[in-house]
Amino acid sequence: MARRIAVASQKGGVGKTTTVASIGVALAELGQRVLLVDLDPQACLTFSMGIDPEDLPASVHEVISGVRSASDVIVSTVEGVDLLPSTIALAQSESTLVGKSNAVFTLQRALVMIDDDYDIVLLDCPPTLGILTVNALTAAHEVLVPLQCETLAHRGVGQVVETVAEVKRVSNPDLIVLGFLPTMFDGRTTHAQVVLADIGTRYDMPVLTPPIPRSVRFAEAPALGRTVLSTSPQLRGAEVYRAHARQLVARSID
Ligand SMILES: Nc1ncnc2c1ncn2[C@@H]1O[C@H](COP(=O)(O)OP(=O)(O)OP(=O)(O)O)[C@@H](O)[C@H]1O
Ligand SMILES: [Mg+2]
Repeated sequence: MARRIAVASQKGGVGKTTTVASIGVALAELGQRVLLVDLDPQACLTFSMGIDPEDLPASVHEVISGVRSASDVIVSTVEGVDLLPSTIALAQSESTLVGKSNAVFTLQRALVMIDDDYDIVLLDCPPTLGILTVNALTAAHEVLVPLQCETLAHRGVGQVVETVAEVKRVSNPDLIVLGFLPTMFDGRTTHAQVVLADIGTRYDMPVLTPPIPRSVRFAEAPALGRTVLSTSPQLRGAEVYRAHARQLVARSID
């Protein structure tokens, strides 16, 4: 059965999409069958994996709307992972879902159908705590919260922590919180280290190590439709994402 992991935070630009793409490709390097799900109407993950949403006949929006099955819409990518892509049409899903009974289980129902096709499914959430993110957290077995190592990184983090707690109470009691994943870490500054130590004490949630180093290579790769795993395979950031992929696989064997 596929293990579904949501990468969520309503804070924008903290590295959710980069984490889904990079850990996904690192997991594929380890021989895992990986599906990435783009749940952001901006479709950044879809573009980042080298796919133009304009060229696609359908997206995760049609899956959520119930007019297509996930397996009809999934595409393969050059880096060895499959993708359930997004398009701007997904913006309508919020209103499609609101008011439907059991709306929070919509994505879970669609993904259960492809359970046998993948070892790991990574869900890239939009920077909101709306019905799409709640669907992802309900469909997920585990959740990871990326956190940028900068001043006031903790501001607003309480909201995503509270949403996760609410989902556990209401729709997904078995959801496992893997923890915070520190991103864009500049180890040369004591400041980044202070932020990291501070987060560890504020919330009752593990902080995963090692932190993802900051590198301009991460910002360059999406324009090439690739991840740093293939554009800069020796980059320390690529190695660190590989380390997290190995930790995830080790966790599943435990
Ligand atoms: N480790 C890193 N070092 C430097 N830049 C990074 C790193 N990780 C991500 N970035 C860049 O930071 C920007 C935001 O990253 P990303 O899109 O992954 O965040 P996000 O949380 O998905 O954003 P959004 O909330 O808008 O969906 C992107 O331009 C990305 O290339
Ligand atoms: Mg994103």
